[in-house]
Amino acid sequence: MYLTIIFILEDGSLKIYNVTKADAGVYTCIAMNQFGVARSSGNLIVKERTIITTPPSNVDVTVGESIVLPCQVSKDPSIEVVFSWLFNGDLIDFNRRMTHFERVGGESVGDLMIRNIQINHSGKYTCIVQTAMDTLSETAEIIVRGTPGPPKDVSIEHVSSTTAVLNWRPGIENNSPIQIYTVQTRTPFSVGWQAVSTVPEVINGRTHTATVVDLNPWVEYEFRVVAGNSVGIGEPSAPSELLRTKASIPTVAPANVSGGGGSRSELVIMWESVPEELQNGEGFGYIIMFRPLGSSSWTKAVAASVEASKYIYRNESITPLFPFEVKVGVFNQEGVGTLSPIYIVYSGEDEPQLAPSGTSVQSLSASELEVSWSPVAWNRHTGRVLGYEVLYWTDDSKDSTTGKVRVFGNITAKNITNLKANTMYFVTLRAYNTAGTGPSSVPVNATTKKSPPSQRPANIAWKLTNSKICLNWEHVKTMENESEVLGYKILYRQNRQSTTHILETNNTSAELLVPFEEDYLIEIRTMSDGGEGSSSEEIRIPTMSSLSSKGRHICYSFEIAILVHILNSSFCY
Ligand SMILES: *[C@@H]1O[C@H](CO)[C@@H](O)[C@H](O)[C@H]1NC(C)=O
Ligand SMILES: *[C@@H]1O[C@H](CO)[C@@H](O)[C@H](O)[C@H]1NC(C)=O
Ligand SMILES: *[C@@H]1O[C@H](CO)[C@@H](O)[C@H](O)[C@H]1NC(C)=O
Ligand SMILES: *[C@@H]1O[C@H](CO)[C@@H](O)[C@H](O)[C@H]1NC(C)=O
Ligand SMILES: *[C@@H]1O[C@H](CO)[C@@H](O)[C@H](O)[C@H]1NC(C)=O
Ligand SMILES: *[C@@H]1O[C@H](CO)[C@@H](O)[C@H](O)[C@H]1NC(C)=O
Ligand SMILES: *[C@@H]1O[C@H](CO)[C@@H](O)[C@H](O)[C@H]1NC(C)=O
Ligand SMILES: *[C@@H]1O[C@H](CO)[C@@H](O)[C@H](O)[C@H]1NC(C)=O
Ligand SMILES: *[C@@H]1O[C@H](CO)[C@@H](O)[C@H](O)[C@H]1NC(C)=O
Ligand SMILES: *[C@@H]1O[C@H](CO)[C@@H](O)[C@H](O)[C@H]1NC(C)=O
Repeated sequence: MYLTIIFILEDGSLKIYNVTKADAGVYTCIAMNQFGVARSSGNLIVKERTIITTPPSNVDVTVGESIVLPCQVSKDPSIEVVFSWLFNGDLIDFNRRMTHFERVGGESVGDLMIRNIQINHSGKYTCIVQTAMDTLSETAEIIVRGTPGPPKDVSIEHVSSTTAVLNWRPGIENNSPIQIYTVQTRTPFSVGWQAVSTVPEVINGRTHTATVVDLNPWVEYEFRVVAGNSVGIGEPSAPSELLRTKASIPTVAPANVSGGGGSRSELVIMWESVPEELQNGEGFGYIIMFRPLGSSSWTKAVAASVEASKYIYRNESITPLFPFEVKVGVFNQEGVGTLSPIYIVYSGEDEPQLAPSGTSVQSLSASELEVSWSPVAWNRHTGRVLGYEVLYWTDDSKDSTTGKVRVFGNITAKNITNLKANTMYFVTLRAYNTAGTGPSSVPVNATTKKSPPSQRPANIAWKLTNSKICLNWEHVKTMENESEVLGYKILYRQNRQSTTHILETNNTSAELLVPFEEDYLIEIRTMSDGGEGSSSEEIRIPTMSSLSSKGRHICYSFEIAILVHILNSSFCY
């Protein structure tokens, strides 16, 4: 508890120390001498002191963050305060267009917001509080930390066939020490920049060195360096100059050596060519070595071309379809490199020597023929059979067509489709293998059926009874160039049910025994040797319940019973 101490000064003034609210009130000065008394009064008003209650405090932030520096006061309600801020001693002018600084909090709060803070916003921030009676201030320091700036002056000091020594100088730290460097590389064959293995060594604080290892010989490289600190990875340096590593003997053999096929007396050898970045030097080519399985000496050949991926060896003494051991190797001006492992490749074969026999052809419809034949019994001397080729043609001089279909494997029949109606076709067969096709079989002929009836079933009448739909329709008459009607096909399905049921009959009436909860959709088609004819219009038969006397037609006496659904000798009344 404080005591209020009051002095009367020599000139009569009153001095009050440590004023409190209790000291407020009317003070009267009374002066006296022998002549009399004089008095004067004044009112003392005591106001609350202004205090900065929440001052800004020192902070560490990362580039891009937004922060609020508080500056909050307690004050007498009757006192006006004015807030302002200094950055490194300079007044921040909020009236100028400032993208990063903003005053927030209203009249009695002086908070400063810094949006998207940048490295150059590091420094001292002072909040100044001014009233009519006094001026207060508080200062805080902000450190903004960012990812390191790009390293500088990347240079290549020394290069071998698989290594390169790089030097560079560090970029700006941005208030957080650099912890790591990564070297990236780019070649004409790579997609963008990729990290590479390095053996780093720091020579002194200013220059940095690393040895990049595992490079490919005779490839042009560019390098760049990226620095990282606790904030993150910074921008990469500018690329170094372009530099080619030294040449060396190639070490990667071709992949996927294969081959086979070709004609008799040939050995066809193929491989996947070695990509340019693995050729390791100029004068690149392939060495091909092969021998018949069981033989002890290798035959050697050279394909002195970068692009080569195939070699054909011809020699009359090669046995057809004989297994060869094959190796493919690589070389360049520096020397002969690696050989691939041994692959087995077969020599070329003869075409089949035998023609298929027992060929026959049958007409299935107006557009289809079925060809069948006996399999060729082959051996190494008569030539392997991989499959058969069917050739067909018409003999019409005006509009001749030819066609060819291949079937693979030991197959003995094939349907030929999309043919013309009522037309004679000739068919021959030949066997084939990788060398080609063998002799043709004796031609056989067949005539496609006449086209199906063009007229559609018409005048369809129907009647409903308890659980039966009775149908009848007019017989379809055919023209001379059309196939005879052999019967009719009735397709019916429930309205909202997709499965279609099929009923075949050779009469012009039918009876469907159906659970009849929903409408039925029905269509009728002709059937003939030439195939199915066109459909009738689709008719809809409504349910019993929705029906009063709409069925106008009556079907009498049914005698057909082809499928289960048709009742023999039943009637619809
Ligand atoms: C006024 O109060 C302060 C504490 O706030 C004290 O240190 C000082 O001695 C006081 N003054 C007098 C004259 O008592
Ligand atoms: C910080 O740097 C940017 C440019 O990078 C500049 O526009 C801005 O005025 C600078 N801010 C301060 C406070 O210096
Ligand atoms: C070899 O060929 C196969 C199939 O063609 C392919 O999947 C594979 O990647 C190839 N191997 C090499 C090393 O190229
Ligand atoms: C063909 O092969 C035989 C037996 O392997 C060999 O003696 C002969 O030199 C070869 N001829 C050619 C032209 O390579
Ligand atoms: C081809 O199949 C038939 C029987 O369908 C068989 O007798 C014959 O041996 C088979 N031929 C070959 C080469 O597999
Ligand atoms: C040719 O078609 C008919 C009728 O569709 C069929 O019975 C026969 O199996 C088919 N033949 C072949 C080889 O596909
Ligand atoms: C068609 O084949 C039959 C034997 O099936 C033959 O008698 C007839 O001469 C052949 N027709 C033609 C035009 O070759
Ligand atoms: C069948 O003959 C009629 C005329 O007799 C002709 O209009 C029709 O195009 C012919 N149909 C076919 C499939 O040739
Ligand atoms: C109708 O079909 C039945 C049974 O399939 C058959 O016996 C009869 O000959 C056919 N009738 C006619 C006129 O085709
Ligand atoms: C089809 O109807 C004809 C006469 O309408 C009749 O002679 C024949 O027997 C019927 N066929 C069957 C299978 O009911």
